[in-house]
Amino acid sequence: MKIFPVSQSVFCAYADIDSLPELFEGIWPIKGSGVSLNSFVVKGEKIALIDLTSDWTNASRQVVSALGSLELSLKDIDFLILNHLEPDHTGFLREFRCENPRCEIVSTVKGVNLMKSFYNISEGVRAVKDGDALDLGGGHILSFFETPNVHWPETMVTWDAASGVLFSCDAFGSFGKLSGRVFDDEFTKDEHAAFEKESLRYYATIVSSFSLFVEKAIEKLKPLDIKCIAPSHGIVWRKNPRVVIDRYAKYASYAKVGEKEITIVWSSMYGNTKAGLDAAIRGIEQEGVPYSIHRVPDEDVSYILADAYKSAGLLIAMPTYEYAMFPPMAYVIDLFRRKHIFNKTVLRIGSFGWVGGAKKEYETAITPLKWNSLESHEWAGFPTETDLSILEERGRQLARRVLSF
Ligand code: FEO
Repeated sequence: MKIFPVSQSVFCAYADIDSLPELFEGIWPIKGSGVSLNSFVVKGEKIALIDLTSDWTNASRQVVSALGSLELSLKDIDFLILNHLEPDHTGFLREFRCENPRCEIVSTVKGVNLMKSFYNISEGVRAVKDGDALDLGGGHILSFFETPNVHWPETMVTWDAASGVLFSCDAFGSFGKLSGRVFDDEFTKDEHAAFEKESLRYYATIVSSFSLFVEKAIEKLKPLDIKCIAPSHGIVWRKNPRVVIDRYAKYASYAKVGEKEITIVWSSMYGNTKAGLDAAIRGIEQEGVPYSIHRVPDEDVSYILADAYKSAGLLIAMPTYEYAMFPPMAYVIDLFRRKHIFNKTVLRIGSFGWVGGAKKEYETAITPLKWNSLESHEWAGFPTETDLSILEERGRQLARRVLSF
């Protein structure tokens, strides 16, 4: 495995994960699209390794092999900087410690506590605070800035003023494998478009609950003269780091107001709800508002979260099931709450058999979501011509409301 020079004394090693585990965090599919686990080396008179990998698919051995191309082994690392203790970046820590008992491991106070609880490591550990610095010699002084909840409470970023590289760990990261290239200027326009989709899915599933903290972190890092953003997942931004900083600022803003588009999330047992949905979609199309459409439970919820988080409007179509919400849709609504899919303009529609029931459970479930709800429409069995006319008009109303922001 080769190592990628970011500067004369800063290097990136990565491992692509695209098969096992199939689910990131045990929830989010990465099979095919993949994710990269990036580590960085800073060579001063002392050598720092910034962020480890998990032990998935031999990832750690790939990074060790990349170090070998600098004629380094794990034993040569003087400081291991752990910006974030989630095991995708630390799963290899126990083995690392066995191979190099002399290395000092640096993290925040909360990170040090997690090191003890996750890996039973408490010796040779240094806790750093916001603004602390570590002089590697050779002109490289690493500074640490706490960025709590981007992604866990213990998270920090590491800044090397000499090279202008910000080692940001999860912040500014994305799903998507690197496949032999690392830097933003090495990917085509189409590849960047694919990464952008995966970075939104990464943000919506991993980071969206913490958008307020993302905004605080971006504000805090503003004074730094950043020449390169080096996250621990995805592309390293050496040509235009502003692109990914602005992208994350935009994503954080979606917690307050989304793009002028609608995400349609629907399920149907026997086609009755689908028939009503088609009428509502006709109304949306008449107003010319772009929309994405996802069937539940056919499509993985991570893709629904990404589009729903980005959109100003939602159309939720589901039948009543045993006097309550259609069960897979109840899971989606619960994830909307957990992932802060807040401040949306929403239309809910659906059919029922004997009596309704979805409405009551739905209205309780969405209470914390701060949604601006249009009047919903439910019908018994197959929609009548009157139902279809109402649904088409509701679709138009939703679209007009979204356009009015
Ligand atoms: Fe990439 Fe929150 O770990």
